[in-house]
Amino acid sequence: MTVIAATAPLIEADGLYKSFGDTAAVRGVSLTVRPGEAYGLVGADGAGKTTLMRLLVGALRMDAGHARIDGHDVVTDTERARSRLGYLAQRFSMYGDLTVAENVRFFGASRGVSGDELARRSAYLLQFVGLAGVEDRLAGVLSGGMKQKLGLACALLHQPHVVLLDEPTGGLDPLTRQDFWQLIIRLLADGVAVLVSTPYMDEAVRCTRLGFLHEGTVLREGAPRELTEPLDGRILELVAAPRRTVQAVVRADPDVEDVAAFGERYHVRVRAAAGPLERLPRALAAAGASFTALRTIAPALEDAFIALLAEGRSDRRHGIEL
Ligand SMILES: Nc1ncnc2c1ncn2[C@@H]1O[C@H](COP(=O)(O)OP(=O)(O)OP(=O)(O)O)[C@@H](O)[C@H]1O
Ligand SMILES: [Mg+2]
Repeated sequence: MTVIAATAPLIEADGLYKSFGDTAAVRGVSLTVRPGEAYGLVGADGAGKTTLMRLLVGALRMDAGHARIDGHDVVTDTERARSRLGYLAQRFSMYGDLTVAENVRFFGASRGVSGDELARRSAYLLQFVGLAGVEDRLAGVLSGGMKQKLGLACALLHQPHVVLLDEPTGGLDPLTRQDFWQLIIRLLADGVAVLVSTPYMDEAVRCTRLGFLHEGTVLREGAPRELTEPLDGRILELVAAPRRTVQAVVRADPDVEDVAAFGERYHVRVRAAAGPLERLPRALAAAGASFTALRTIAPALEDAFIALLAEGRSDRRHGIEL
């Protein structure tokens, strides 16, 4: 790969809006991604992740706002903007009845890559994504992970400086997800700017910066550590049962803001830890619950996002539109 030396932002979105009828899918999103950065978009189903990416690709026209890819406006200079970006759509968009090699040739041709250059790029990229040796297999019968790797290889044929990946690891097993992220990390090392959406927090935490998208708006943005820092010392891990009693007792504590179940454990968000650490074991025992453990833990991204959503709900209750 070519190493990108520039430091100017490669992705710039400024006040993007997009509605479909009555649905405001993207409501004033601004973000910047520089060379070598991975910006993670995290948000529930329908938060607007795909719509935002399609605006950046120039596949949808925004109602308001501007977006530039490597300095080129995606509306007024669409072709040049597109020539700088690779896009891996959320839905598999290869041809299932063509082989791996045929798909690569097809996407190469559509990107203006052909002849010796296509042969060179194709060999390099299939090696890069780990598909060398299966060139003759039909794309439709590849495993989920291999399909995504083929998609990535096709998105990289024209050496884009910007790569947009829409839930590239959705539904893949943890080992394949890990594999895929190794590829992303290698792209970042070359200076590519990556915008990636993911439902997985263990992936989100690898991003340079994250935007938490909710109902079309970036509720908060920052490095993973910046997002969890406000909760330092405020997340307790509790092991106790049964659920109904535990939730009732924990919620009744005056310093508890919220309790969320993580499998058999609970994450209890508190205003301050000292009171609940002292009170909860006794209160649980008094209510007849079986109490196993309670301790302060480092906040996880999930905790930060749950807190952020709760904040949004209480702001809305107070009439503040987020
Ligand atoms: N072409 C369209 N026509 C009408 N509504 C649309 C269209 N595309 C998206 N929407 C709506 O816009 C909102 C945002 O959708 P979008 O696909 O961007 O969300 P998402 O964050 O990618 O969700 P997911 O995690 O499920 O992929 C949703 O309410 C969706 O129903
Ligand atoms: Mg989507």
